[in-house]
Amino acid sequence: MTKGNKNILLAYLGWKFARPIRPLIPLFFRYWIKKSFSNLLVLKSRLKVGFGVEALSYLWGFDRGLPIHRYYLERFLQDNSSDIKGHCLEFQEDSYTSRFGGNAVTKIDILHVDDSNPSATIVADLTKPNDIPSDLFDCIICTHVLHVVSDLEKFVAELHRILKPGGVLLVGVPHISMCDPNWHELWRFTPEGLRVVLLSSFGDDNVEVKGYGNSLTAAGEIRGLVKHEFTQSELDYNDPRFSIEVCARAVKER
Ligand SMILES: C[S@@+](CC[C@H](N)C(=O)[O-])C[C@H]1O[C@@H](n2cnc3c(N)ncnc32)[C@H](O)[C@@H]1O
Repeated sequence: MTKGNKNILLAYLGWKFARPIRPLIPLFFRYWIKKSFSNLLVLKSRLKVGFGVEALSYLWGFDRGLPIHRYYLERFLQDNSSDIKGHCLEFQEDSYTSRFGGNAVTKIDILHVDDSNPSATIVADLTKPNDIPSDLFDCIICTHVLHVVSDLEKFVAELHRILKPGGVLLVGVPHISMCDPNWHELWRFTPEGLRVVLLSSFGDDNVEVKGYGNSLTAAGEIRGLVKHEFTQSELDYNDPRFSIEVCARAVKER
């Protein structure tokens, strides 16, 4: 038998014995085409990082998928989810407390600086005298708040005051990100800067700081790329020279 005939025979036998899985073949092709197409779209956006002065998003990526900085915030909260328990406080909404604390949370308060937020259970400006009792919360989740606060020292002292002894503050702040003047953002935080801000109230030994991101994801964050446009290993490589999100866990001494 020639080599050509042998190949034809093998193809025929393959086709004949593959009968049971033949209905799956169109499904497989559809999946393959869809995957290749979405890979092409990802490639297109990745290429756009290097061209043109306009960003792909002016909403920190929220209009395109999960923003990279939110992916990092979620990683941080997941890694510290065992601290999210008992009576918790979160700013503006309770989504992270509910999601990462689950059944360990017994009560949630939502704090807002003014009365414009109907979900708020506490309205207070933490840089001014307020009625919140001392030693109240087991955990405070304070994400994307410090960068809009003018008196950081007073604000952090208040967070420390209203935490129970042994209670935990989980903070996330932007370092590399778009800064929209409409949002009255005042600061960006390096890992060292966030440590300085927290240690005046919590003490050096009680503050752990971690930066998330690298030069590639930082460029993507600025240009409006989102989580699904990066591979897992690209997302999870942290280079402290290019932190996008800076997070901290601070514990109030007993
Ligand atoms: C940009 S929102 C952050 C919302 C949310 N935690 C997040 O992760 O996106 C800023 C929050 O900080 C609060 N805030 C700003 N200044 C404050 C102050 N002086 N005292 C208390 N809360 C303040 C606002 O009420 C608002 O809920």
